[in-house]
Amino acid sequence: MYATQSAQTKGREYASQMDANDPLKSFRTEFLIPYKPKSRPQPKRTATRIASHLSAWATRGVLGHFTEHEGSDLPPFLDVDNAAARLMAPLVGAAASEVAVMETLTANLHLLMASFYRPNQEKYKIIIEGKAFPSDHYAVESQIRHHGFDPKQAMVLIEPEDPVAATISTSHILSVIDKHASTTALVLLPGIQYYTGQYLDIKAITAHAHGHGLLIGWDLAHAVGNVDLRLTEWDVDFAAWCNYKYVNSGPGAIGGLFVNSRHGQVDVSAIKNGADGFRDRLCGWWGGDKAMRFDMGNDFVPIPGAAGWQVGNPSALALTAVIASLEIFALTDMATIRAKSMAMTSYLENLLLHPPSASSCYNKELPYRIITPSNQEERGAQLSVRLEPGLLEGVMSFLEDAGVIVDERRPDVIRIAPAPLFNTFNEVWDFANIFTSACSEAQSGTVHGNEQAVTLKGQDRKGWAEIK
Ligand SMILES: Cc1ncc(COP(=O)(O)O)c(C=O)c1O
Repeated sequence: MYATQSAQTKGREYASQMDANDPLKSFRTEFLIPYKPKSRPQPKRTATRIASHLSAWATRGVLGHFTEHEGSDLPPFLDVDNAAARLMAPLVGAAASEVAVMETLTANLHLLMASFYRPNQEKYKIIIEGKAFPSDHYAVESQIRHHGFDPKQAMVLIEPEDPVAATISTSHILSVIDKHASTTALVLLPGIQYYTGQYLDIKAITAHAHGHGLLIGWDLAHAVGNVDLRLTEWDVDFAAWCNYKYVNSGPGAIGGLFVNSRHGQVDVSAIKNGADGFRDRLCGWWGGDKAMRFDMGNDFVPIPGAAGWQVGNPSALALTAVIASLEIFALTDMATIRAKSMAMTSYLENLLLHPPSASSCYNKELPYRIITPSNQEERGAQLSVRLEPGLLEGVMSFLEDAGVIVDERRPDVIRIAPAPLFNTFNEVWDFANIFTSACSEAQSGTVHGNEQAVTLKGQDRKGWAEIK
């Protein structure tokens, strides 16, 4: 129903009070905040660390691989990967040896599936969600084909019970696993669903999959640096993520993966006796024992743990950018970040449900619905807002003119994610006011976006009517 400005609305005073008491308030000074951020703000440390790297490279050349760099915290180039893994591990709740900072998310999913998807005639299916991020869908589909199976039979897509609400209940996920368990080889799910912002119950779903003897992996693109992950404690088999969202490492930054320690064990004596000794994988020299790396032998002995999944020599320059942003996380912890994030996103939700100046703006009802779960435990920083049909272009155009960049998912969803490391409660308040104006202007038709792009299919209108 229509929500007027009410006693429930927490205003500017609340925002200022929260900002004044924010334990992370000094963290904003760690970032360069662009006026119109097209991507995440840049950590100031990135330029400092990259400059140190360039200087080490210029003065030491190839010897920089092996020597400590005076006057800099940077490790020898050969150990930059280890340093990155040590800093990354607390963000995902894992031992450093269970984490590798490497490649991109999609490449890592392939490398991990090469190890963890070993189908046979009885068990060959992969269970994923029907609305998986397209790259995950393509990766899974191609893995299935690669093993000679037909995705039509081997790909199980979990669809939301209610397509309009778009979220998926844990019980529904568990029931799909139950139904296909006897023919399934792998389950691959998102920690936080990119479209709805729903945070799945990783612990419960992992335990359930294990109860059926199934391996389960997680795409943590939208969860890492956002929520307080406990991958070791939750006994996750494997996971992969990118570092260019909440981890602020820059566009196309090197990603990361987690491999549970029980899958990363290496039995050197077995290898010497010609037996397997380690979980099968796609191998490359960078995953091999560092002590033997330059021996140029043909016997592959992996580094125990996730580092053994590395394939080629990573860019020390690119890893240095990841390290710079991870150093900021090391100044605090995920519990503190998550606590502020929950408070900020709840504040945003409160303002969206009880808009600051709604009475003068909206016709009768709010022209949007929040599709992200209202339970804080079932979401991270992000709220996905589904706009009334026809408003997206006008709203986006108004927001952009006001210097606010949010993410759009056509035809009608915008994703808003206040980031606890650098956003303030006052900015959330400002955003809510600008967003209210954007909606009312778009509703009254005084602001238009690119009309060409507005495609209002009958289906979209029907969907909107159903959720009211
Ligand atoms: C959920 C999810 N999976 C996969 C990807 C693809 O990541 P990459 O381009 O690093 O492979 C993304 C990128 O945004 C994503 O959000």
